Amino acid sequence: MSDAETYDPSAYGRDIAGDYDDLYGAIPDTDVAVACLAALAGEGPVLELGVGTGRLALPLAARGLEVHGVEASEEMLGELRRKPGGAEIPVHVSSFDDYALEQRFALVVLALHTIYGLPTQERQVRCFETAARHLRPSGAFVIEASLLDIGAFRAGQAVRPRFTSAGQVELQVHRYDPVSQHLDWTNVHLSDAGVRLNSGRNLYASPHELDLMARIAGLRLRERWGGWSREPFRADSTRHVSVYAPSGALT
Ligand SMILES: C[S@@+](CC[C@H](N)C(=O)[O-])C[C@H]1O[C@@H](n2cnc3c(N)ncnc32)[C@H](O)[C@@H]1O
Repeated sequence: MSDAETYDPSAYGRDIAGDYDDLYGAIPDTDVAVACLAALAGEGPVLELGVGTGRLALPLAARGLEVHGVEASEEMLGELRRKPGGAEIPVHVSSFDDYALEQRFALVVLALHTIYGLPTQERQVRCFETAARHLRPSGAFVIEASLLDIGAFRAGQAVRPRFTSAGQVELQVHRYDPVSQHLDWTNVHLSDAGVRLNSGRNLYASPHELDLMARIAGLRLRERWGGWSREPFRADSTRHVSVYAPSGALT
């Protein structure tokens, strides 16, 4: 069976929900990301795709914004609902390329490279199209996505530290097939508590491919930064934060 046929959007969350906050709750730029998203959202409301345990949604809601989520994993949502304010975030349980809500949003956001988890280009395009349908005319769809550092690969494989802090290190081990653009990943998390592995397959898309998907969906690139501090996007950027707006809103 193909990746598309075996794809289960809830698999990642089922595997990691119990450990997610210990592993990623302290991602260093979360506060900066929240400030950037709040500025983009204006008065709101905000829809977060893959809302997870609320790393971004809860601090956005704490700023007074109305925040909704789309999430495939009941296990991740269980963690969200256990937190103060988590149960008040309305969440639609679905894959984020296939949902239909009545409401229209000032900001739709998909963070942490999660777009690449959708296993086919068709589904990634559908993610853009569905986000576009949920935007207000003056709204924005924001994607944070990592960039492939092709120079780091030898014989199709690369290892890089994702983050290090006192007592813990995470190494990302990647295998990349340039023909299919499949990026097989294993995160190796090392700490005093032991070793934690989790793995999956991504379908990589370059920034320009994402821009074309946006155009298919009736959106246009409004801004692209190298991170949430709105630093310039440059040749040595390791990720991008891209802001798409409905084509009609850009002249
Ligand atoms: C890397 S986590 C990010 C969670 C949260 N946005 C954050 O920034 O901490 C990705 C989240 O997206 C969810 N997810 C992955 N693929 C999905 C899909 N196709 N549809 C809906 N949710 C999905 C996972 O269950 C997980 O909660």
